[in-house]
Amino acid sequence: MGQLNALGRHLVLVGFMGAGKTTLGRAVAERLDRPFLDLDAAIEARAGTTIPELFADRGEAGFRALEAHAIAVALASPEPAVLSLGGGAVTTAETRELLQGAFVLWVGIDADLAWERVRGTNRPNAQNETAFRALFDARQSLYAEVADARGNDVDGALLAAAGVHHEDGALDRLGELVPGSGPVALVTDTTVMGIHGARAQEALGSRLTTTHTLPSGEEAKRGGILESLWSELRLDRAGTIVALGGGCVTDVGGFAAATYLRGVSWVAVPTTLVGQVDAAIGGKTAIDIPEGKNLVGSFHWPARVVLDELLLGTLPERELRQGLAEQLKTGLLAGRTLDVRGAAAYKSGICLQDPHDHGPRRWLNLGHTFAHALEAAADFDLPHGEAVALGLLAALRVTGHDTSLVERELDPKPVSVDIDRAWEALLRDKKRTGDAINLVLLGPDGPFVEPRPADQVRRELERLIA
Ligand SMILES: NC(=O)c1ccc[n+]([C@@H]2O[C@H](COP(=O)([O-])OP(=O)(O)OC[C@H]3O[C@@H](n4cnc5c(N)ncnc54)[C@H](O)[C@@H]3O)[C@@H](O)[C@H]2O)c1
Repeated sequence: MGQLNALGRHLVLVGFMGAGKTTLGRAVAERLDRPFLDLDAAIEARAGTTIPELFADRGEAGFRALEAHAIAVALASPEPAVLSLGGGAVTTAETRELLQGAFVLWVGIDADLAWERVRGTNRPNAQNETAFRALFDARQSLYAEVADARGNDVDGALLAAAGVHHEDGALDRLGELVPGSGPVALVTDTTVMGIHGARAQEALGSRLTTTHTLPSGEEAKRGGILESLWSELRLDRAGTIVALGGGCVTDVGGFAAATYLRGVSWVAVPTTLVGQVDAAIGGKTAIDIPEGKNLVGSFHWPARVVLDELLLGTLPERELRQGLAEQLKTGLLAGRTLDVRGAAAYKSGICLQDPHDHGPRRWLNLGHTFAHALEAAADFDLPHGEAVALGLLAALRVTGHDTSLVERELDPKPVSVDIDRAWEALLRDKKRTGDAINLVLLGPDGPFVEPRPADQVRRELERLIA
């Protein structure tokens, strides 16, 4: 086992021949904007010959020595890349040891399909079906030994790389899913405690030391609540905070973890749609102060995010709608309709690329400049999802992008707020370039950030107001 996520580290795909590591690796590298290296291809290029010929000339042992060297060189590169290894690379002890410094994803396949895919090729270890199947069996334990997670598609790989575990019913396996063996503090809110708290406590078993029940909603994100939480925690440095709840609970729980004992590990278990597609992913944590929302916080990536969609079954319709707006926004950025898993994977990929919000992570703010302005003008008496729905409408209109999906799915209705207050809030919130305002916009090739004239932005804001 290496690291729990691929943040700033090489992401290495291992698995049996025929599993599709190269195709998957290339696609994942593109999503993470990282270089991709197929080790077999690199070895062939360096040797100036093919792998079957290398096997024939040097024997398997000779090939493995070349391979181990090539892997060591690739893993020594400081720029995090995506690497796909040949199926037998893990048989070399030195390689297995080096992999501990990387994040290793096991791309699984069953023996029948693998044989279907590789029979009749010139792969040295696929010339005889009996030997092939014996090799398949022998290798499984080696993949299990080096792997940090399993994944078979691009979204699965991105989730795994971000430390997100997606499984229906995962709440009941929380004890196993919280990394390490140290003590655990459960942080939740009154509503969620009443619905899912007992199951979480039972699943955490003897590791659970304390349970902290915060007020539901934004109330939880007050400084005073955080201070009480700090006083009540009984963790040592090996401890973990498990935050079970919506975005408010994961924001406070995560920030408590970032600050308590100068930082302990934490696990997010999002129970709202907002939490599952947005708040629990990407390591931003924060509380509110009277001067504004989320003004005090920290980047503190959770050791794991446990994404159990069954927890959404008890979520009121009103809360579900808040998350639908963010899910649809993510789909607009991705250019396709996304389910919860896909939206979480998209955000995971963007945040792995840009954990500290200096680049593409800003795309996630599509529509939010307008949304924040409306919320401020409404004294935050406007549900965030409704504000985001209106904001998306405005952002899409700026580039003449089709708005029918937003209208059909979210049905945003103009709100009754004071335009001057909203405009002032927008100007306060936004970086300006001369008389222009920087916006996240959507073009035919996807999202981009560009300044737009202030009068055009104000006109679009006005259209959102009844
Ligand atoms: N850190 C980030 O990257 C990020 C991103 C987006 C939003 N946020 C923050 O998230 C917060 C909003 O999150 P939210 O919309 O999840 O709100 P929330 O945490 O207040 O949850 C909404 C309500 O639903 C209840 N609830 C939660 N799970 C439930 C369940 N399974 N069944 C029934 N009721 C349930 C809660 O008790 C609460 O009353 C905001 O403070 C926002 O700033 C953070």
